[in-house]
Amino acid sequence: MFNIQKNHDITPYTTFGLPARAAYYTELTCNEDLPQLCQLPEFDMHTVCWLGGGSNVLFMQDFPALVVRMATRGIREVSRSGCIVLVEAQAGEIWHDFVQTTLKMGLSGLENLSLIPGTVGASPVQNIGAYGVEVKDRIHSVQCFDIEKQAFITLSNSDCQFAYRDSFFKHEGKKRFVITAVTFALSTECMPQAQYGDLAQVLAHNCGERSPSAQDISDAVCQIRRSKLPDPAILGNVGSFYKNPIVSAELADSIQAAYPNMPRYPQDNGSVKLAAAWLIDQCSLKNYQIGGAAVHDKQALVLINKNNATADDVRALSDYICLQVKQKFAIDLHPEPVWLPEN
Ligand code: EPU
Repeated sequence: MFNIQKNHDITPYTTFGLPARAAYYTELTCNEDLPQLCQLPEFDMHTVCWLGGGSNVLFMQDFPALVVRMATRGIREVSRSGCIVLVEAQAGEIWHDFVQTTLKMGLSGLENLSLIPGTVGASPVQNIGAYGVEVKDRIHSVQCFDIEKQAFITLSNSDCQFAYRDSFFKHEGKKRFVITAVTFALSTECMPQAQYGDLAQVLAHNCGERSPSAQDISDAVCQIRRSKLPDPAILGNVGSFYKNPIVSAELADSIQAAYPNMPRYPQDNGSVKLAAAWLIDQCSLKNYQIGGAAVHDKQALVLINKNNATADDVRALSDYICLQVKQKFAIDLHPEPVWLPEN
């Protein structure tokens, strides 16, 4: 049975904390209830908002339709073959807690993704990534409910069409599929991915000559993230506010001619990923504030809810940042979080 709340305050369910209400709100605690949920008069597959940890959404105004918060729980080992262990987690599991559980199970693979806010079910949608690892590198399959066909199905890793902060779930699969659980391929052997700049330095400091364990890597990632990224429980934010832009080698070269120390990450197809944080920082925007919204002082890619920010504050701040970066570097920044309701 669903408890449908009307005109419900959804501010606490997002990490940025813009004030917002949903016309209707409920929680899903059991995947088997999905067919029944779809029959409710308040349900419309074209307008419903499936909410995970609320760490990648901004409610820019009250939400005029149904919001369903995924609150399913459960982690289980599915199978073991040699050193590869498949582990399934339900969509509503808190991502960081799940990562810590896999480490306690003696499994390696997700340690670089420690402390990313959000839920397991949201992780494939934007293919979360940090410190040289993307979740697509560890996903075996994604379990979904197909709203059109009213059937539970499993998508393989390749079905998900993963790319940088992108997947099938942001495009063709967007309205049709609800992610119910994700199965990860993890390993009983630690294959450290520890080359990423900051991480290599912190590990060298923490571990010396000893080769780092998966838990060491997780601890170092947490240490770095805590030093740069604000804790959403204390200061509202959505992590990176923009994707790192991918530009032509020519444009990257022309900027680098003026800024020899510009960070650049070559892509397989010859294009170059630039650091949005660096671009914003070059415009001297750290600490820049409009109303209650501001650019974080330790990481220019993070916008914070400094003092009861409104959606208008966030929109004005983001417009200003994009304009400054465009004028200085001729690069368009694209937000990483989803702005709701979408037009
Ligand atoms: N930099 C600056 N100024 C700043 C911050 C960074 O010049 O204020 C420079 C750094 O010196 C570095 C470069 O920008 O050379 C990149 O910075 P950083 O290593 O902190 O990573 P990022 O590109 O800003 C990405 C992800 C993060 C992830 C980190 C670590 C995106 C959009 N963001 O950030 O993901 O944690 O790498 O791997 O890809 C998120 O998606 O919410 C997120 C936090």
